[in-house]
Amino acid sequence: MFDDPAASGTSAHDIAHFRQVMGRFCTGVTIVTAVDGGEPVGFTAQSFTSVSLEPPLISFCPGKSVGSWARIRSAGTFCVNILSEEQEALCRTFASKGQDKFRGVGWHPGPATGAPVLDGVIGWVEAQIVAEHEAGDHLIVVGRVIDLDSDGGQPLLFYRGGFGRFQP
Ligand SMILES: Cc1cc2nc3c(=O)[nH]c(=O)nc-3n(C[C@H](O)[C@H](O)[C@H](O)COP(=O)(O)O)c2cc1C
Repeated sequence: MFDDPAASGTSAHDIAHFRQVMGRFCTGVTIVTAVDGGEPVGFTAQSFTSVSLEPPLISFCPGKSVGSWARIRSAGTFCVNILSEEQEALCRTFASKGQDKFRGVGWHPGPATGAPVLDGVIGWVEAQIVAEHEAGDHLIVVGRVIDLDSDGGQPLLFYRGGFGRFQP
């Protein structure tokens, strides 16, 4: 059980335990991209999920310290790129604070929004931001899907802090 947050805040032990248990939830990995001021921006996110079918809504959760978020918000539209098992290095690049994450990365503008669709991804979803909710040290961003497609290949998986591949 968690310590009483009103009394002490969340303890280091509670944070470690939270991470340890949540790490049991295996996810895919995405890179959320946009074009802001003519420049491509993006960051790695595992918090992507499908939310609603009618209307088609998706969400992801940027931390409040994620620099790319302000620029994605300013763009108003974004693209979620679903990474393949071959793209662990790309995942790490976009999980860094580097200024030039797109150097050497192949991409083309998404047909609906112009947000980068990265070469080699197994799926991509373009969306318009329709809501942004406060959630502790993160935000919950909801997007309405405008266009999407998928391609061949297997997903990159993230589990217990490490990367893996899907085997049926
Ligand atoms: C596998 C993986 C998943 C991640 N998922 C998220 C996420 O869902 N939300 C988030 O805010 N950061 C997530 N991160 C961390 C961000 O990618 C990282 O903070 C990045 O440096 C943000 O870049 P920026 O500040 O340049 O925008 C993830 C990192 C990794 C390696």
